[in-house]
Amino acid sequence: MDITTVQIQESRLRQDLLDLARFGEDQGRGITRTALNDADLAARQWFKERMRETGLKVYEDAAANLIGRMDSTVGPTDGPCIATGSHIDTVAQGGKFDGALGICASLEALRAIRESGLSLPCPLELLVFTDEEGSHFAGTFGSRAMFNLLQEGEMEKSRGTGMTNLAQDLKRMGKDPQKIGQGVRSPSEFRAFLEVHIEQGPVLESMGIPIGIVEGIVHLGRYLVRVEGKTGHAGTTPMHLREDALVKAAGIITTVNEAILSAGPEIVGTIGELRVHPGIINVIPGEVEMALDLRSVQEATLASVKKKIVEIVHSTDKAKIETIITKGGVKMDPGIMEAIELSCRQRGIPFHRLWSGAGHDAMTFPTQHIPTGMIFIPCVGGKSHCPDEAIRFEDAATGAQVLADTLVRMAFKAEQ
Ligand code: GLV
Ligand code: MN
Ligand code: MN
Repeated sequence: MDITTVQIQESRLRQDLLDLARFGEDQGRGITRTALNDADLAARQWFKERMRETGLKVYEDAAANLIGRMDSTVGPTDGPCIATGSHIDTVAQGGKFDGALGICASLEALRAIRESGLSLPCPLELLVFTDEEGSHFAGTFGSRAMFNLLQEGEMEKSRGTGMTNLAQDLKRMGKDPQKIGQGVRSPSEFRAFLEVHIEQGPVLESMGIPIGIVEGIVHLGRYLVRVEGKTGHAGTTPMHLREDALVKAAGIITTVNEAILSAGPEIVGTIGELRVHPGIINVIPGEVEMALDLRSVQEATLASVKKKIVEIVHSTDKAKIETIITKGGVKMDPGIMEAIELSCRQRGIPFHRLWSGAGHDAMTFPTQHIPTGMIFIPCVGGKSHCPDEAIRFEDAATGAQVLADTLVRMAFKAEQ
C-alpha cells in the first residue's frame, strides 16, 4: 500500500481557513467566536455543510459537538473509529487558527483520503468540540462531556457574575442540558485520536522545522479568586475608611506573580480575567472576581506553587480561592508518535518532538486510555490567543498531509 497516493490540496485548505475566519471577525480586534455565541453557531452551520459535501454522515451530540463519520467501505460500519479533529470556538479577540486549523486540516485529510479511492479497513471520524477554550467555565467541555467527565453542576456555573453558562447557551440553541448524558460514548468506540494544532509558541519557527510531534501536554490548574470589600461613594468616603476590593486584589496579583516567578522557569501562571463589581467610575469596588491559570510540566511544582498561592489568598482579609479544574499532565501514545514520524520521513519532512504548554481536547482522550497523538505546525512569532496569530499556509498543508498519511497508516495498522 502506497500511503503517498493520498494528496491533500493546499488551496482548498487555505480557502476553508479563510472562510472560517470570517465568522466572528471583531472590528479589527481578532476573532470573537466564543463557544455558542452567534458567530460560533453560524460557523458550525457552515462547517456542517463542508462535512456533508465531503460525504461524511453528520451528527450533533447533546453537548453540541459536531461529528462527521466516514464509514469503512471494506470493514464493519459500526467498528471502532480513528478520530481526528479539534475545536471551532476561539477565545475573545483571538486568532484565526487556534482550533480552526485542526478542524480544517482534518476535513482536508478526509477529503483527500476519499479522493484517493483507498478503502480503509476502519471508520474515520471528524470531531468538532464545543467550548475547548472555556469561555463559560472550565474548558474542554465537549470532549469531557463525550466521556462523562463533567463535574457535578458544571454546566450551571460560570466564572463570573453576569456571564452566561453552558446550560443557558445549550438551551438557547434548542438543546436540553438535562440530556447531556445522551452524547456519552464508550472509549471502545475509538481506536485513536489525532489532533493537528498550531504550536502556539516559538520553538518550531525558531528551528525552521514545519512539524512538531507532541510528546505530552502540561499539567494545568484553573482557579477562581473572590475578594470582598465594601462598596461606597468614591467622592465622600475618606481613604482611611475604605475597604476597596480591587486594591486588595491588586496586592494578591502582585504577590502571586512573585511567587510564580520565584518558583523558576518550570511553571507559568496568569491572572487574565478580572471582574470588578459594580465596576463604575464613582463607586468603590465592593467585590472582585479573578481567574488564575497555572501550568507546569511537573505536577509537584504546580502543587507547591498552588499551596503558596492559597496561603497568599487566605492571608488577605475576605479573600477566597476555589479550584475550577485541574487537567492535562498526559503523555501522547508512543506508537502514534512513531507513526507521525514515519509519515514525515516518507515525504522527507523535518520534524521535532516537543511538549505542549497549551491545553487541548487531546488531553481528554488519554484519560480514557485511547491512544492519542498531536501534530503541531509553527505559528508566526510564536503568537496565539491574540489577533495577530498567523501561520504560513504551506505549513498548514504540510500538517494536513502528515495527518492524512498518519490516519491511513494507523487505519491499516489497526487492521493487523
Ligand atoms: C487553550 O487554548 C489553553 O491552553 O488555554
Ligand atoms: Mn486550541
Ligand atoms: Mn486556545
